[in-house]
Amino acid sequence: MIPTERVLISEELRDRFAQANNVLVLTGAGISAESGVPTFRGGGNTTVWKGMPFDVISSAGMLARDLPAVWEWFNYRRGLLGALKPNSAHEAIALWQTRFQDLTLVTQNIDGLHQAAGSRNVVELHGNIWRARCFDCGSRHDVRELKSDTLVPVCFDCGGNLRPDVVLFGEMLPAGAFESAAMKAQTCDLCFVIGTSAVVYPAASIPEIARAAGAHVVEVNPEHTALSDMCDEVVIGKAGEVLPMLG
Ligand code: OAD
Repeated sequence: MIPTERVLISEELRDRFAQANNVLVLTGAGISAESGVPTFRGGGNTTVWKGMPFDVISSAGMLARDLPAVWEWFNYRRGLLGALKPNSAHEAIALWQTRFQDLTLVTQNIDGLHQAAGSRNVVELHGNIWRARCFDCGSRHDVRELKSDTLVPVCFDCGGNLRPDVVLFGEMLPAGAFESAAMKAQTCDLCFVIGTSAVVYPAASIPEIARAAGAHVVEVNPEHTALSDMCDEVVIGKAGEVLPMLG
């Protein structure tokens, strides 16, 4: 009989988890995988839409060339996300808000599932798919409140064209988001890196900053990643199974 794989949480991690005050959590697409959100990489797959790799359709170049196509792609993604619910990993992290003196949740995800699970003050490095931003006046709108007969919705405030309020390839991160995450990374005592392939910078540098400043860095992922070697501990397993085991 083939033994079933068991997730192992070390005694050291249990102790550190029990004693930690300042905790920083960096999440990526993998934390939403058990909710049904497809990851970008991993498992040998790379997302392709209408023959275009996601880093082409989700790029600043495409925004300049074909704004309607970018909206179509994000409308398609929102259509997939609309029915999905947070999973036990999102819920576990939402509970950590009351457990630790200081919890900073930094996500690369744009799906809004951390907030749906009850997490507050989420640092969104790559924006949010449920928001649109005006090219002209910069104001932000909830996409669910937009009514538009055209593929490209317009701003309530000034009538300018809106774009998805997400970071595209070739664009800068929202002002202040990375800086506030990096500052917290310098003072945390425990840092979790959950469900990210850790190949997209500067997000991937956050655990590196935490490690350099002396934090205990723990990766949770069913696979090894580019960051595994620098982590103090790698818990091989699915986030939805591992995080509830921590308490
Ligand atoms: P990736 O798709 O690159 O990586 C997903 C990671 O999740 C992989 O390492 C998988 O092994 C892991 N994974 C899969 N299932 C999991 C589970 N149940 N529990 C835990 N981990 C699991 O996603 P990201 O690292 O988030 O940027 O990608 C980073 C950025 O690349 C994204 O934010 C996006 C993309 O380009 C922008 O759109 C700007």
